[in-house]
Amino acid sequence: MLSNSKSNLLAGFLLGILLSTGVFALCVRHISGDRQSGGAEIVLKLGHSLDQQHPVHLSLEHMGELLRKKSKGSVELQIFPNGQLGSETECIEQLQRGALDMTKTSTAPLESFLPEFALFSVPYLFRNEDHAWQVFTGEIGKELLRKGGEAGLRGLCYLDAGARSFYTTTKPILAPKDLKGLKIRVQSSQTAMEMVESLGGSPTPMAFGELYTGLQQGMVDGAENNPPSFYSNRHFEVCKHLSLDEHARVPDILLISESTWSSLPAQVQTWLQESADEASEFQRKLWQEKTAKVLLDVQSEGVTVHRPEKSLFATQVKPMVAKLQGTAVGKLIERVQGLP
Ligand code: GCU
Repeated sequence: MLSNSKSNLLAGFLLGILLSTGVFALCVRHISGDRQSGGAEIVLKLGHSLDQQHPVHLSLEHMGELLRKKSKGSVELQIFPNGQLGSETECIEQLQRGALDMTKTSTAPLESFLPEFALFSVPYLFRNEDHAWQVFTGEIGKELLRKGGEAGLRGLCYLDAGARSFYTTTKPILAPKDLKGLKIRVQSSQTAMEMVESLGGSPTPMAFGELYTGLQQGMVDGAENNPPSFYSNRHFEVCKHLSLDEHARVPDILLISESTWSSLPAQVQTWLQESADEASEFQRKLWQEKTAKVLLDVQSEGVTVHRPEKSLFATQVKPMVAKLQGTAVGKLIERVQGLP
């Protein structure tokens, strides 16, 4: 048996080896160019939950193309769509551990890692789309992107995710009372749970990738999302009522692991940030076109699109929003509402 001090020494030595090989592996991962990368020296892996037809995925492909051009082929973005690398929460955790380079997630599940991100899930926070974008690209949006650093996550940009609305397998939601007794799938977000509860429904958190089956098998009676996601994940096949109550404008966000970011040469960091900003602008335009198109497409697939009176929903969530007064999120809400 080894004495205590000797076994401590040995443990320290082994830990040293593990750490140095870990760090070495990380460096090789970024500079080796030996991964089916077609010769790129740096390969960045990005996982997300959406389908390949989705405007967000198309804009990520556009970003990869920009990055390839700027770097003359030395940097490659490898995109893994459809939740292949795990749910949004799992991808965020992998970024924190340095096991995955990048992810595109809704800001909703980020709330469990960085509580201020609850802001974007607050129902009826924004007056309209322009107001929302004024916040995403303005001081508040930038402050929140920087906040990511506290959790080992660097925020690169926001992507449009439009407005979220309810859809069900059973009946139209024309007023909050119609949600009574319905199990509504929500994202992994306390704020989303409270919103559905305030409106009278039963919130049921579930990963996006499991939702189609969840709806089909009656584990939930409905869900809420933006029209392009309702369409691209084919939820319209099982949900024939879409009610455009537009209760929240929760954006998507592009994140990179801090450990990946800090291992990249400054020039690559610049290319990456520029490509992300350009992809965000590109996506915003694409979003508007796609949303209008899918609303027509789902109707030709037999979905009835309802336009309920939004104020009925907005009034009902007021007490929930009022409870946030004085909290960090409450202070951000005041700043958002104070914008012209
Ligand atoms: C939106 C968002 C996705 C998210 C999904 C969800 O579609 O863009 O990132 O996964 O909502 O409801 O989970």
